[in-house]
Amino acid sequence: PAQYILGIGGKRVRPVCVLMGNELFDDLKEDAYHVAAAVELFHNFTLIHDDIMDKAPLRRGMQTVHTKYGEPTAILAGDATFVQSYVKLSAIQPSLLQEVMPLFNRTALEVCEGQQLDMDFEQKASVSLDEYVEMITLKTSVLLAASLKLGSIIGGASKGNRDHLYEFGKNLGIAFQIQDDYLDAFGDPAKFGKQVGGDILANKKTFLMIHALETAAPSDKEKLEQLLQSSPADKVAQVLAIFKNAGVDSWALQLKNEYFEKALQHLDAIAVMSKRKEPLQQLAKFLIQRDY
Ligand code: IPE
Ligand code: IPE
Ligand code: MG
Ligand code: MG
Ligand code: MG
Repeated sequence: PAQYILGIGGKRVRPVCVLMGNELFDDLKEDAYHVAAAVELFHNFTLIHDDIMDKAPLRRGMQTVHTKYGEPTAILAGDATFVQSYVKLSAIQPSLLQEVMPLFNRTALEVCEGQQLDMDFEQKASVSLDEYVEMITLKTSVLLAASLKLGSIIGGASKGNRDHLYEFGKNLGIAFQIQDDYLDAFGDPAKFGKQVGGDILANKKTFLMIHALETAAPSDKEKLEQLLQSSPADKVAQVLAIFKNAGVDSWALQLKNEYFEKALQHLDAIAVMSKRKEPLQQLAKFLIQRDY
């Protein structure tokens, strides 16, 4: 079951971030591949368990692990994948491991914390934009940030450069999750690979929901609050109509760009030749414009 989810692909963005973090400062080192694999395994572990928590039927255009094999097997496949990530990590040079392990561990704990906030917010009637940003920072963006920083550690970057690269990844990760939440509501089911409307069915407090609750006309707001208490057959369609009325499109673009710009400022501040930064700029653009 673990091989199944790994074998159906995914964008593999986090391992690429490890390699690019290394290459920003030095030639690729063997250890970067071990850390890249560790990060992708960790990510897949979180996805297997996330799909149980979110009751998601589809991922990467295929059945989720628990849908295909049952929940007990999916829990264990997740656990095993988590262990495998540490097997990969422990293959690196011991002197590097001393620096890599604390960052990896801290990040893993933050992801758990973010996932708990995400679940808590399902039951909460109102969540502020600040609370949302804190939640997505923890559940999603710190792993992207850590992937880049882990690569930069292997590449021998200075502390100042590592920290700017981390902040680049953190802000980019926030924009990345904003795009994920946008696609969950408005994505093309044929390209997205996940169930469109899943966040709406789970009463997730995405920025779309927060913005609609804050800015919708009184009648729409009342309807939305009722929909959060019930599950009519056309719940997704009804909520989407309210989202559209509230102008979530332009709001998504604005919010995404805000974090994208912050990310680029940190990339600018890294003391290496600007030519070397171009691949990361391209990756950042892809991540916030992607449709899958
Ligand atoms: C999905 O991550 C989970 C989030 C943090 C949004 P990705 O969009 O990177 O998923 P894959 O690995 O490419 O399938
Ligand atoms: C997932 O957020 C974040 C983690 C798995 C840690 P989502 O629940 O939005 O991710 P998807 O949309 O299922 O990929
Ligand atoms: Mg999910
Ligand atoms: Mg989730
Ligand atoms: Mg999502």
